[in-house]
Amino acid sequence: MSNHMRSGILWLTAPLTIVHSSDDITSARVCGLTRAGKVTDMVWFRLGWRGRAAATPSSQHPHNTPPRRFGIFGGRRYLNDVSYFLPKDATEINRLDFQHFLFRHAMHGNFSAPIQQPLSILDVGTGTGRWATEMARQFPQANVIGLDLVAPPADDTNSTQKSEPRPENYIFVQGNVLEGLPFPDRTFDFVHQRLLVAGIPLTRWPGVVNELLRVTTPGGWVELLEAIPARGGPAMNQLYEWLVGVGLPRGVDIRTTHQIGQYLLDAGAQQVNYRQLDMPMGNWGDRSGVMMEANYFALHQGIRGPLLAQGVTTAAEFDTVMARAKAEIAEGHYIWPYFLAYGQRPLR
Ligand SMILES: C[S@@+](CC[C@H](N)C(=O)[O-])C[C@H]1O[C@@H](n2cnc3c(N)ncnc32)[C@H](O)[C@@H]1O
Repeated sequence: MSNHMRSGILWLTAPLTIVHSSDDITSARVCGLTRAGKVTDMVWFRLGWRGRAAATPSSQHPHNTPPRRFGIFGGRRYLNDVSYFLPKDATEINRLDFQHFLFRHAMHGNFSAPIQQPLSILDVGTGTGRWATEMARQFPQANVIGLDLVAPPADDTNSTQKSEPRPENYIFVQGNVLEGLPFPDRTFDFVHQRLLVAGIPLTRWPGVVNELLRVTTPGGWVELLEAIPARGGPAMNQLYEWLVGVGLPRGVDIRTTHQIGQYLLDAGAQQVNYRQLDMPMGNWGDRSGVMMEANYFALHQGIRGPLLAQGVTTAAEFDTVMARAKAEIAEGHYIWPYFLAYGQRPLR
């Protein structure tokens, strides 16, 4: 195994890389260019999306998020009718934005798959919509959809939060990947799903990845990025147990995300590339490490309310463990493991 440090990430390569196809990347690029001639097959061109917002797929899924039942625990807001257990509130939107900038910095961009000039991009579990809107700006020829259970504030006409205008080639569509994606087969040249581990029960993962491949055009790419909770000293390990424990009663097992490469292979993807990205936490990881540490504590603050409500711990114990974990990170060289996998839908 060879490890090397790049922009604050330890990249583990060699035995973790899976390439399962006789096709090479060059042929995939040629296919991408060929697809550009078939744009009339794409659903939004039939609907006349670009420049005519009223005729977009989003008009079938209004930007006004349908009423959902939210619960408030410890001053944080949560969806209480879905598997997803992290907060859905303004504080979490800020964390997700921060985490997005961290990943974009650490990974030198927004994606790793060898896409060329995609005409159609889907971001499943778009969160803030920031990844999707940046992709819409980077690929102005593409139509980009961000899909989530709940509209980001910037796409929610009921929201009072001010935000930058959305690019014309981006729309939000409300949906639940566990109920199937509201798109025909072979719709998107690039399908991206990042950090949905807290929302997908373990037994549903193969079906979800099948669904992502289903809506991908032949020759198009699916990219997944997931994490498992960091471990370290005794306090960090306690936080690990609590975080894992919040998901298990919902069937969500956040220790299993290293399987994403295998899910892609099982779903029939080719050219599957899988890597573990060990993100340093703390000063030893420079700027990314400091950002990663801040993200680690912000994430755990997000489960404080549910843990207290369920009587798993007390406020005093939780806060003490968080403080001890901070001291552990200051003294040690701990990492937060992430997994990146991408693969191509076969041409036939
Ligand atoms: C941790 S956030 C990640 C957001 C975004 N992908 C990013 O990387 O910034 C997970 C997002 O997935 C959404 N989500 C969870 N379960 C979902 C489901 N079943 N279908 C669609 N979106 C889901 C949540 O609402 C949340 O916005």
